[in-house]
Amino acid sequence: LRMVLMGPPGAGKGTQAPNIKDKFNVCHLATGDMLREQVKQGTDLGKQAKKIMDQGGLVSDEIMVGMIQQQLDENKECALGFILDGFPRTVPQAEKLDTMLEKKDQKLEHAIQLLVNDNLLVSRITGRLIHPASGRSYHNEFAPPKKPMTDDITGEPLIQRSDDTADTLRKRLVTYHQQTDPVAEYYKTKGIWTGIDAAQSPKTVWSSLLKCFDEQK
Ligand code: AP5
Ligand code: ZN
Repeated sequence: LRMVLMGPPGAGKGTQAPNIKDKFNVCHLATGDMLREQVKQGTDLGKQAKKIMDQGGLVSDEIMVGMIQQQLDENKECALGFILDGFPRTVPQAEKLDTMLEKKDQKLEHAIQLLVNDNLLVSRITGRLIHPASGRSYHNEFAPPKKPMTDDITGEPLIQRSDDTADTLRKRLVTYHQQTDPVAEYYKTKGIWTGIDAAQSPKTVWSSLLKCFDEQK
């Protein structure tokens, strides 16, 4: 399985991708998680990226394409397939991805977009808690951890992302509609796009996702 999972901030990409990963035994590449790892390590890229992320902008195509290229070339888990979460976010990123895959005689099978109305995303984003090491996300109302502020699996503390404020969310949404809506159009013309109603419960969204795999392939 080689697929792109698209959707606005808070749509549920990071919530659903692990289900797909477990079901199809493919790797989950989340560019936002990769950037947050750089921030945590305090690298130059991390310092640059943090500013951009907290302003709701996008890190350059060149850097992001390089990150994905490196994973696809070096991460052995990706040989069997992958879910890209948060990439591509611009049409040039989508074009570069196609070129990268062509060189490997591979191609994308699905571009699935989680569709949620912008006004539903505020509560999802402002209530989110994450486990930084794994990228696992929780929600203080919709998906609470068993113990408050504690990761269910490792027992480590949960934190709020610094870009998860109502103010930064507004900017992230503007960026999404400007830069990433055209990526959906790009995949529509390629005939691999499917949209899913992602305003439903996580379980219902997961069943809809499973249906797209049956129907398209
Ligand atoms: P990234 O980390 O990719 O953030 P994002 O796209 O804004 O998406 P989120 O992670 O916020 O949302 P999600 O869809 O994963 O939602 P989740 O499942 O956690 O990117 C961050 C930044 O990095 C970008 O702004 C940009 O600056 C930079 N960047 C990254 N990739 C880049 C690229 N390719 N090019 C350039 N720059 C890049 O769910 C959200 C919450 O809702 C959780 O609390 C969850 O528990 C809850 N929830 C999930 N599903 C449901 C449901 N069905 N019902 C109720 N609650 C739900
Ligand atoms: Zn995410």
